Amino acid sequence: MKGGLTRRVLVASGLLAVIIAIGFAVLLTSVAVDSRLQRHARRSEEVLVVANRLERSIVDMETGQRGFLLTGSADFLQPWQSARAAFPADSATLRRLVANVSPQQVARARWIEQAGTSYLRDYSIPLVEAARRDRAAVNTLAATEEGKRRVDAIRSQFDRLLAAEDTMAADRQRLAAVADSRAVAGAVAGLAGSVALIALFAGYLATRIVQPVRRVAGMACRLAGGDLGARVQEGGTGEIAALQHGFNSMASALQDNRQELVASRTRIVAAADRERRRIERDLHDGIQQRLVSLVLELRAVEADTPPEAPQFREQLADIAQGLGEAQDELRELSRGIHPAILSEGGLGPALKALARRSPVPVELDVEVPDRLSEQVEVAAYFIVSEALANTVKHARASVAWVKARVEDTRLHLSVRDDGVGGAQVGHGSGLIGLRDRVQALDGTLAVISSPGDGTTLTAELPTVDR
Ligand SMILES: Nc1ncnc2c1ncn2[C@@H]1O[C@H](COP(=O)(O)OP(=O)(O)OP(=O)(O)O)[C@@H](O)[C@H]1O
Ligand SMILES: [Mg+2]
Repeated sequence: MKGGLTRRVLVASGLLAVIIAIGFAVLLTSVAVDSRLQRHARRSEEVLVVANRLERSIVDMETGQRGFLLTGSADFLQPWQSARAAFPADSATLRRLVANVSPQQVARARWIEQAGTSYLRDYSIPLVEAARRDRAAVNTLAATEEGKRRVDAIRSQFDRLLAAEDTMAADRQRLAAVADSRAVAGAVAGLAGSVALIALFAGYLATRIVQPVRRVAGMACRLAGGDLGARVQEGGTGEIAALQHGFNSMASALQDNRQELVASRTRIVAAADRERRRIERDLHDGIQQRLVSLVLELRAVEADTPPEAPQFREQLADIAQGLGEAQDELRELSRGIHPAILSEGGLGPALKALARRSPVPVELDVEVPDRLSEQVEVAAYFIVSEALANTVKHARASVAWVKARVEDTRLHLSVRDDGVGGAQVGHGSGLIGLRDRVQALDGTLAVISSPGDGTTLTAELPTVDR
């Protein structure tokens, strides 16, 4: 299925994954930048501490040495000694700390190390040794001037080194701020993109999948309820299009089958009615007429019989009466097969004849056009006929009401009695036959019959030929 839903769902999920991955990548990069900057900041702090310690060592050496030169007291040499001992290790640490930072800082650290070493080796140690030997021989003023110059030079190098560290710290702060704002922007963009895509995707799912499936489900309910004209609008995507098309094909097939079924049932009922009418005509025109002429002939023979043969005359009269009764029975029989009065006079007179012949009194209320289609007249006649026959047979009723009306394009029939009730379709062949007949005409039939409450049979038939 080209362009199926599965592919679209996969594409949307992939897109979502890419947006989320980009958002996380931006965040991770910023975190990495942050931790690098923090490492540098820690190193900077260490540089600050070591540089300050070194500077203090230089100052301690200078003041200790000067105090000793001026006073000759060995107490002043104590800080000089400790600063001298600590200097090599601290200057090496400083050089290591700035090793990978910048060539200028490395050069400054190296300069400080060399200048400090030279201060000790070339100036301070020889001066202290000389003063120890003979303090008076040492030109104190010139020596302290020289010491001050050297220390000032070293201290200004310390200032430059620390100022450079400050500048780098400021740069780092700026970089951190940029990385932070980039992380926030990345996170916001990722979040907004994800939310927008999820909203779009949810909307797509709702309009392209959920709603069409719901519509198909609604139509399936209508179909199950008997509305075979229920169809869904096609035009969905992928599998939904297949579902809509499948549903419509299924509904069309069902509708066609039902139409064929109704048509064939109608044809069967019409064929049976035609056959009944033919039999009724054959009986009427053939055997009934033959019986009539036989009775007439018998009456003539009876009239010609001499009065001396009364017994023979009586026998002839009995035969004529028997023939007359057979004629009546035959007429009754042919009426049950197909009432001639229906073909000749229409539904109104036929129903009147039915009511007249019923052993249970019938109140008639019939307002129908003179003629309806033959199928409808026959069906209506047999409905009333079977309902009245049931009233007589089963209802123990005192009266029955028959009502027939045509409203719009439908014939409404009802037959009601005040009998014992309890009628059930399917307990005999009469009511079932009626239902088949009514359904063949696309009509409806209902029987309401609670025990003790009489029975009402209603039927509706379309009067327009389909
Ligand atoms: N008006 C009625 N009052 C009471 N019971 C009825 C009435 N009409 C039908 N019934 C009950 O419903 C059953 C079904 O009626 P239905 O006409 O289908 O069959 P039937 O009359 O028994 O037989 P058939 O019509 O085939 O001669 C009847 O057997 C009867 O028990
Ligand atoms: Mg019956």
